[in-house]
Amino acid sequence: MDKNWIRSTCRDLQLYYNPKVGNKLRMDTSTNALGTNPAGRKALQECSNLDVGQYPSTYGDGLRSALADLYRLKIDNFVVGNGSDEALDIIIKTFVEPGETVITAHPAYVLHSFFVKINGGNTVTVDLDEDFQLDVEAINSTKGKVVLICTPNNPTSNIFRMDDVRAIIEGSDRPVVVDEAYGEYTGASFIPLVKRYDNLIVTRTFSKAYGLAGMRIGYLAAGLEMTDAMQRVKIPYSLNAIGERVAMAALKDREFLERSVNVVKEERPYLEEGLRDLGFHVYPSEANYVLFRSTIPSDELTRKLSDKGVLIRDFGKVRRLENCVRTTIGTREMNSTLLNKMREVLEECR
Ligand SMILES: Cc1ncc(COP(=O)(O)O)c(C=O)c1O
Repeated sequence: MDKNWIRSTCRDLQLYYNPKVGNKLRMDTSTNALGTNPAGRKALQECSNLDVGQYPSTYGDGLRSALADLYRLKIDNFVVGNGSDEALDIIIKTFVEPGETVITAHPAYVLHSFFVKINGGNTVTVDLDEDFQLDVEAINSTKGKVVLICTPNNPTSNIFRMDDVRAIIEGSDRPVVVDEAYGEYTGASFIPLVKRYDNLIVTRTFSKAYGLAGMRIGYLAAGLEMTDAMQRVKIPYSLNAIGERVAMAALKDREFLERSVNVVKEERPYLEEGLRDLGFHVYPSEANYVLFRSTIPSDELTRKLSDKGVLIRDFGKVRRLENCVRTTIGTREMNSTLLNKMREVLEECR
């Protein structure tokens, strides 16, 4: 559109990743290899008689209360919403004035800078070091209103050193956001530290280890002063009544969560070895996905795999990730299918 109707901060936006899925095997979005959360599915079935003629709880108090019990915090330490993407959006809306700067790492989750841009802020990126670890000094000496990092980092799949993250939280008096979308896979979390640090915000999701990506449920935890401000910014009712019930049921199913984490631990070495056998360079992973450098052009590899019915995600055009591809760690069957199809592609390209 050549008229100036569109807000300047919303021009030149790219559409988000939107593949033709059909019945292809999805190993492109780092979701749960075991599929839908069984307790969540049961709760979903029980929702058929739910009175959806009424609005849900304004702030998702049922889920916030369950989270408070799980983490031994207060209900008001939590804000829940439509995926952790909404939580990230709320954070930027609450703390960043138009024109102000948010510091993110590079490479990192692409939507971090998206939320900053659509809300009128500027992103300054600080490169990760050669091992994809944080450059603490550079981050702490960069001017900016908010720091936003994710650990395990997406798409590099490593975790950051806890001491480095702590040094960033302690290093300046500004909000520091730790995106723990894949936190369940590491067994560690910064959430308990929201009691100690009044500038710490942690975001988490039900889309990954809880196996509920299609329901769009996420949350953030922070000190009471920051959550109070963010709760007021959040769109009321953004977590729908069904999502809230399903999330509460899933939260109680610790067995499925454990199984989901274990399958990743068990399958990671198999997938990594298979990728190395094909000649790829594999980066160390502590999440439910693996980043590797392809020996043929990464866009060709992903396109040809897609033609064979398997989706993985190409990051080959991202600076520092030239020719790199990310795949979810699947079940043995999924991983074998992926490796076999990749072998076929490589043979065809010889
Ligand atoms: C690092 C990171 N943060 C946040 C999200 C958003 O997750 P959701 O909005 O599904 O909770 C994702 C999804 O892939 C992610 O990789």
